[in-house]
Parts: sequence; C-alpha cells; structure tokens
Amino acid sequence: MKIYVWLFIGGMVVSAINAQKPVLEVLTNGNQVSLRGLSVVNDSTIWASGSNGSIARSVDGGRNWQWMQVPGHEKRDFRDIEAFDANTAIIMGIAEPAVILKTIDGGHTWKKVFEDSTKGMFLDAMAFSGDKGVVVGDPVNQYAYLAVTRDRGNTWQKSNLEGNPHLLKAREGEAFFASSGTNVQYFTKKPGFVFVSGGNYSGLYYLGRRFHLPFGFGVSTAGANSLAISPDNQHAVVVGGNFSIDTARSRNSVLVSFEKEGVTMKRPQTPPLGYRSCVIYLDKQTLLTCGTSGVDVSRDGGKNWNPISTESYHVCQKAKSGKAVFLAGKNGRIARWVLP
Ligand SMILES: *[C@@H]1O[C@H](CO)[C@@H](O)[C@H](O)[C@H]1NC(C)=O
Ligand SMILES: *[C@@H]1O[C@H](CO)[C@@H](O)[C@H](O)[C@H]1NC(C)=O
Ligand SMILES: *[C@@H]1O[C@H](CO)[C@@H](O)[C@H](O)[C@H]1NC(C)=O
Ligand SMILES: *[C@@H]1O[C@H](CO)[C@@H](O)[C@H](O)[C@H]1NC(C)=O
Repeated sequence: MKIYVWLFIGGMVVSAINAQKPVLEVLTNGNQVSLRGLSVVNDSTIWASGSNGSIARSVDGGRNWQWMQVPGHEKRDFRDIEAFDANTAIIMGIAEPAVILKTIDGGHTWKKVFEDSTKGMFLDAMAFSGDKGVVVGDPVNQYAYLAVTRDRGNTWQKSNLEGNPHLLKAREGEAFFASSGTNVQYFTKKPGFVFVSGGNYSGLYYLGRRFHLPFGFGVSTAGANSLAISPDNQHAVVVGGNFSIDTARSRNSVLVSFEKEGVTMKRPQTPPLGYRSCVIYLDKQTLLTCGTSGVDVSRDGGKNWNPISTESYHVCQKAKSGKAVFLAGKNGRIARWVLP
C-alpha cells in the first residue's frame, strides 16, 4: 500500500516540474542577420545587434520590432550592444577598424565615440556598471586590449599598458571570444571587473592574476566564452566548449567561487548539453545558458543543467530592471522565455 502512495506523490512531483518547464516563444525570425549582442533595459525595451550592420529594437516587450541598418556600417558585425534606455545605446564593431558607436535618438543617428585601426585589433565584449564601462579585445602586442569609459561611452581611454594590474602577457594563441558580449563582467570586488579568455588557453583574470580554466585547449575553436556573476558576487559560472563539435558535453562549464586569495573551481555534476556561448543568472539558484546546439536551465546554482530547447541561440539576457528574459541568435531570431 505504502509503495502506491509514494509512486503517486512521485508522479505528481514530476508533472509539477514538467508544467513549470519554460517555453521559448519566438518573437521575430527569418532575416539573414546573426545576432550576438542583446541588451534588455526593462520588460518592454529590448535592443539587439548583429551582422550586416543590423540593430533590432522593441519598445513593447517584443511584440513589434524595428530593424535598422547603421548607415555607412552596413557590412559590420556589431557583436555587442549596451542599451541605457529606449533612446540611448552603444554598439561595438569588432575589427578593421574597431569602432564603438552611440545613439541618443533611438537608433536614427549614430556617432562614432571610439575608433582604433591598429592592425590585428579585434574587440570582443563590453560591460557596464552605471556610467562606467569597459571593452575587452584580443591581445595586441601580447597584452589583452582594454579600454574604459566613465561617461556611458562618450569618451574612452586605452588601458592596455604594461604595469596595469589587470594585465599579464597573453599566452600563445590566447584570445577572447566575441560570441555573446559576455566574457567581461563588473562585480563588487576589486578590481571592479573580471574577464575570461579562450582559444589556445582559457584563463580567468581576477586580482591581477590569471587562473587557468579547465576548458579544452590548444585550438582556436575551444575555450571559455561567457561569464556570469552571482547576485551576491561570491560565485561565477563560466561556459564555453568547442564550437566545432557543439554537441560535446565535456569541458563546457566551470563553477567558480571567489576567495580572498584567489578562486576555487568545480565542474558541474550534469553539464549543459553542448558548447554554450552565453550564461546568465536569473536569481541566486536559477541560471540560463545557450549556444548553437540548444538552451539549458539550472535550478541549483549551475551544478545540474536540464535542456529546454535544441534550437540555436547565441545570447540570452535578463531585463536590467524587471523580470523578462530574451534570447537571440542566427537568422534574426529573438525569443522570449515564458514560464507557463
Ligand atoms: C547580409 O549579408 C549577407 C551576405 O553579405 C546577405 O546574403 C544577406 O542577404 C544580408 N542580409 C540582410 C538582412 O541584409
Ligand atoms: C522601460 O524604459 C523606458 C525608458 O527607456 C520607459 O519609457 C518604460 O516605461 C519602461 N518600461 C517598463 C515596463 O518599466
Ligand atoms: C597554440 O598552442 C600550440 C602549442 O600548444 C602552438 O603550437 C600553436 O602555435 C598555438 N596556436 C596559436 C594560434 O598561437
Ligand atoms: C575541437 O574540435 C575539433 C574539430 O572536431 C577537434 O579537432 C579538436 O580536437 C577539438 N579540440 C578540443 C580541445 O576540444
């Protein structure tokens, strides 16, 4: 008798969990743009950026999208975007020359606020905290490229100088992925921001030191792609993998705890279902990660991951002020995460 009671309760628990499985509602789809930049101001204002100099913006929670091509930059790949409100945003164009543009009129006009035509320059990601911002680029003359702003991107100062405590000579073939604009993040600990490298070597840059990250190494297609900091600033989750074998479940995520003197690292018990290019915290225990082979959710701080979709997405973001969560990827696809 007892056993039936237990089975019954077990069945109820399973269906309750299934009923809670989030659904990805596709909002716009079908053009040739690969979206990798995404910035969600609040539940109604969403900006995305990508290839062909393209920007998408919605001011009604994703029901309607306005697609724009930045004049004079129609061939550029804007791999990252940071939006401050419905009118103000900054976009990062990766290379030749590396540029950052800013709009204050909802994307009608864009002003160049940063340009560097140094050979080999390749910008990978930006992060902001209030008016402060940082952009990270591939190593130039053996040092990671860093520039900072204190006025929401109106002016930028290069800080890739020898002697900068953040900087260490890059390893051979070490670079940064520009896959979702999320491998650099601000947090409350010194030195204010932390970033992860990939490629031939994957490292976490923290406390003026570089901590080895256990991703695949020795190839340019593998490594750490994205970093998310927990709401209490004590932990981080790093995802990545090898994008040329994007369903491999090994060496694609690492759980990090920040300590006074360094970091400790653990691998998850159940990793995400393949290469992942972006990870975000929704709250202290809930995380979302996405990549070309699918989307996974963790409800236990990143220890165990459950796949919720096998659709390809490059980037996911939560509203900076609000609860809405969006994803973006190839073919101009933007989706909203819906909890039924
Ligand atoms: C983007 O560029 C590609 C190749 O240059 C082209 O095939 C495609 O039609 C363009 N897409 C848009 C939306 O302009
Ligand atoms: C989102 O931000 C815009 C300002 O850019 C504001 O007009 C709008 O009311 C905000 N919406 C919500 C739901 O907070
Ligand atoms: C990657 O590292 C290997 C040695 O592990 C080296 O032979 C190769 O040249 C490096 N690749 C690049 C692009 O630096
Ligand atoms: C990455 O994938 C490529 C292509 O399948 C393979 O040759 C290489 O060994 C893989 N490297 C790592 C570090 O996963």
